[in-house]
Parts: sequence; C-alpha cells; structure tokens
Amino acid sequence: MQTKLDQLQAEFLAQLAEAQALLNEAADQAGKQAEELRIAFLGKKGRFAELMVGLKDLGNEEKAQVGKGVNQLKELVTNSISDLSQKAQTAIADLAVRSQWIDISLNPYQEEPGSLHPVSLMHLKLEEIFEAMGFTIYDGPQVETDHYNFEALNFDPHHPARDMHDTFFFKGGRLLRTQTSTIQIRAMEKLKPPFRIIGSGKVFRCERVDASHDACFHQLEGMMVDKDISVANLKHFMQVMLSGIFESEVKVRLRPGYFPFVEPGFELEMACLICGGEGCAVCKRVGWIELLGCGMVHPNVLRAGGIDPEEYSGFAFGMGTDRLAMMKYGISDIRPLHSGDLNFSRLFSAATHYRLG
Ligand code: PHE
Repeated sequence: MQTKLDQLQAEFLAQLAEAQALLNEAADQAGKQAEELRIAFLGKKGRFAELMVGLKDLGNEEKAQVGKGVNQLKELVTNSISDLSQKAQTAIADLAVRSQWIDISLNPYQEEPGSLHPVSLMHLKLEEIFEAMGFTIYDGPQVETDHYNFEALNFDPHHPARDMHDTFFFKGGRLLRTQTSTIQIRAMEKLKPPFRIIGSGKVFRCERVDASHDACFHQLEGMMVDKDISVANLKHFMQVMLSGIFESEVKVRLRPGYFPFVEPGFELEMACLICGGEGCAVCKRVGWIELLGCGMVHPNVLRAGGIDPEEYSGFAFGMGTDRLAMMKYGISDIRPLHSGDLNFSRLFSAATHYRLG
C-alpha cells in the first residue's frame, strides 16, 4: 500500500511539473491541466477514491498508518492544484493586460489651458468698460442689405463715400457689412431714446492683405442718444474708454473727419503712449495715433431711425478692434492675428483669466 502511495505521489508530481512548465508560455493550457488533475486525482472516480477502496481491507493499525499517509498526500495534491490554478489565472490576466497595452505612465490629465484670442479679449474688455457706463450690447448680421450698410446711414445711392468701402456684394444685392454702423440702425429700430448701445463683430472689405490690412477685420460701434448730447460727452466717453483699455491716463484730441452719418464728424487721436506725444517710431514721429471715427449722429440718420432730431441728439463712434488689440498687446502684424494659429493665441493666455475666472 505504501508503495502505491509513493507511486501515486511520483505520478502526480510528474504531471504537476508538466503543467507548471506551461505557465509561462500557455497559461490557459496550464489552467486546463490543473482542472484535469483535480478531476483525475480528487474527483469522485479519481485516484484517491480508488485508494480508499483498497484501504477498506486493511487491518486497523495499518489502516490508521496508511490513512495518515493518504491524507498527507491528498493535502499536498489539493494545495498544489489550487496553487497551479491560481498562478494560471494570474498569468492569463497578465497576458491580457500586456496584449491590450495600456500605457499607465501616460498622464491622463493633460490640461492645455484654453486662451482667448487677443481680439476677443479686447471685445470683452470694451464690453466690461461700456456696461459699467450703462451701455447695452447689441448685435447684427454680417450679411446685410444696402439699406442698413449704406442708405439708412445717409449714403445716397451714388454717394462718393461708398467708394471708400470696397464692398463684397452677393448676387441679388445683399452684401457683407463693411462697418458695424449697421448695428446703430438696427438698435434705433427697436429702442426709444434715451439709450446707450454698443455692438461689435466682423466686417469685410475687399482689401489687399498686408501687415496692417485684412479683408475681414473687427469693429466695435457705440451710440448714445439723449437730450442735449454734445461733443463734450463724446470726448469724455472716449477718454474713459481708452484709459480703461490702456490702464493709464490717456490724452485724446479730435480732428475733422468725414463720415456721411455724423455731423460734425471726427477722427479721434490718442497721444502716443510710447513717447507721450514727443514723436517716435510707433507714432511715425507725429506724437498722436489715429484710432477711431466718431461724431454727432446726423439728423437724417436719427430721422431714419424714427427719432426726432429737434428733441434728441447723440454721438456715435466706431473703431477697428484688431488695431486696438495690436497696440495693447504689442503685435506688429495683423496676419498672425487672423491665422487661426492656436500657439499664437496661447501667448495671451495669461490675460485670458481676467473675466472668466
Ligand atoms: N463706420 C465708420 C468706419 O467704419 C466708423 C464710424 C462709426 C465713424 C461711427 C463715425 C461714427 O470707418
């Protein structure tokens, strides 16, 4: 009987060693063999069951002795099989992980903080400044009619000032707005004086592209209508706006300028912030920088907007915000501004947080 036990042990260890050898290369196979070994040795009709049958015929003393040996071997077999099957499972899982190739060293939180475009930053800043002064924000479409872009703004059909706006026309007479002054007209249709509005967005002119011109650029427009509005009010608001943008006391002056929808009309200039008015390369030695068009709203425009010019007066202004952003952020060429290059916008990310955070 003892010999039988020894043989069985030798047999088991040999088969176990075979199965263990598969762990590295064919873990699923090793797993299967563990199950087969369990059935072959520990199953109902397995080798141990067979042994027990022989045990029956032994004398009591021998039975006790052999029984002890059987139990020891059974324990060894049970433990070895469960060890093998566990190792096989781990190896199968390892293999699955390796074959799926999950690179856990990659940082999942690759945050690239977004940044607003310098022109958007300029618009946000301007909106903040004007909202604080009681202005409401208005909007208008980019595809316009002749009425809103020209006629209601006092450009007669053959007015020579139309030539100053190299306009993109669509078939059928619609056009891409050449100025945000269209928003003045749209606001007047909806509002009763007194009111203060600003509106901004893209405008289009058929320009040859160079360092300071693009066929699409941005403007911000403002209009204030009330009783007894004068050029002094206009100048004051412009001064507050520019001091807000450039975060320093800004000196402005008005020179005559012509726009059909204002009378009198002005070009507003700002004392150069680099040289303080002395004259330098930035202001082309003049000491002043031309910034925007403005003036007192023409009576014809007020009338076209349903406002009685005998009772009310108003000022309006409009400016290119690309240029303003270029001055504020020290950008010397308009082209990267419109290139869609995200790396360019990221240069301004530090400035982005002022209103969003
Ligand atoms: N719309 C004018 C332009 O594009 C600017 C302007 C606006 C001038 C309002 C006067 C009043 O040049």
